[in-house]
Amino acid sequence: MFSEVKEGTTRILIPTQTTKSIFYNPQMELCRDIDIAGIAAFVSSLPASWQGQGQWQGKSSLTYIDALAATGVRGVRVAKEVGLRVVINDRSRAAYEVINRNIKRNAVEERAKAYNENANVLLLQNKYDLVDLDPFGTPVPFLDAACKSAKKLLLITATDTAPLCGAHSGGLRKYDANPLNTEYHKEMATRILLGKVTRDLCKYDRAIRPLLSYSKAHFVRLIAQVEKGAKKADECMKRLGFIAHCFSCGNRFAFACSNLMELKVEKKCGVCGAKIRIAGPLYINTIKQKGFCERVHNELEKRTLGKKKEAMKIVETSINELDIPFFYEHHAICKALKVPPSSISSLINALQSSGFSASRTHFSDTAFKTNARIEEIKSILKA
Ligand SMILES: C[S@@+](CC[C@H](N)C(=O)[O-])C[C@H]1O[C@@H](n2cnc3c(N)ncnc32)[C@H](O)[C@@H]1O
Ligand SMILES: [Zn+2]
Repeated sequence: MFSEVKEGTTRILIPTQTTKSIFYNPQMELCRDIDIAGIAAFVSSLPASWQGQGQWQGKSSLTYIDALAATGVRGVRVAKEVGLRVVINDRSRAAYEVINRNIKRNAVEERAKAYNENANVLLLQNKYDLVDLDPFGTPVPFLDAACKSAKKLLLITATDTAPLCGAHSGGLRKYDANPLNTEYHKEMATRILLGKVTRDLCKYDRAIRPLLSYSKAHFVRLIAQVEKGAKKADECMKRLGFIAHCFSCGNRFAFACSNLMELKVEKKCGVCGAKIRIAGPLYINTIKQKGFCERVHNELEKRTLGKKKEAMKIVETSINELDIPFFYEHHAICKALKVPPSSISSLINALQSSGFSASRTHFSDTAFKTNARIEEIKSILKA
């Protein structure tokens, strides 16, 4: 019925293939490894007085909840590998029983408690320092309660990348935003989700400060600080905006608009005259804090982690990634121009030598970010 896997320094019972009612996805070990480093980095940056009352002797009294826990792997790892007090919840009775076994197996009974509740009920009844939502598909049904409950940090996964990317309908219905299915759809998904969390937090006079936001394989993951105050929330709303995209020539640009009633939209592409399409509202400000990412990188380096190399690559690329809310796929532009693609690093060097900013992006190994406009990029590629 069950077998054991090791993630980090934690041993977890997972169902064998025949037990389908309890979910475990080995592909998400990467995400959990980054979480462990991210939570450790966040906790170590807090002033000692914020670690909570009571004991701070290597063991924090900050509270973390995995509201949708399945086997409990995330929460048990946070208790064991970071030392926080954790609540591990799942509404499935079978999952709850495995969570209890996993808590005992790792000897974290003093710090970890399992619940068998509806996540929304638990989140509305209690406040936690760190709130983690890792659902099947969209986090939207749990976002409002999570935004009320989280005192310091939100960790959110979305795996419904089709509506977030604009590949299916549903973006408007679920996220109150219009995504476009562009070559940078992974970034669009990340920013549409951030935009939704921004608006949900702002209702409660809270603001979001993204610390590390990334997308890999089938999922988007956000690690974001929660800040309090109506003024901060007002400022945060100004970080929402739109992306204009021309599917004819590849021209794209972002513009801020905190008041949707005042939205002024260009109808035609300034480069080729074709129709401009608009994506948003979405978060157009920076989606990471460099200092935080550097601390996460250090934490990853010193820990025992199964996906260390891949995790470090994502975080390192994020550290150096330009704060521009879209990217360009090198091969797609070269194909349209009918020129053979050079290496990404030589293109980045060429853009920089022409006076532009340019970087890689963690969203795609074959893409780049730059403040050069599409005509300028094309003329460099053709040179
Ligand atoms: C994707 S799994 C969680 C995976 C887990 N966080 C991990 O890292 O392996 C989602 C879980 O949410 C649970 N769930 C779904 N709706 C829920 C609700 N309203 N309240 C509590 N748990 C819920 C499901 O039973 C399922 O176990
Ligand atoms: Zn155009």
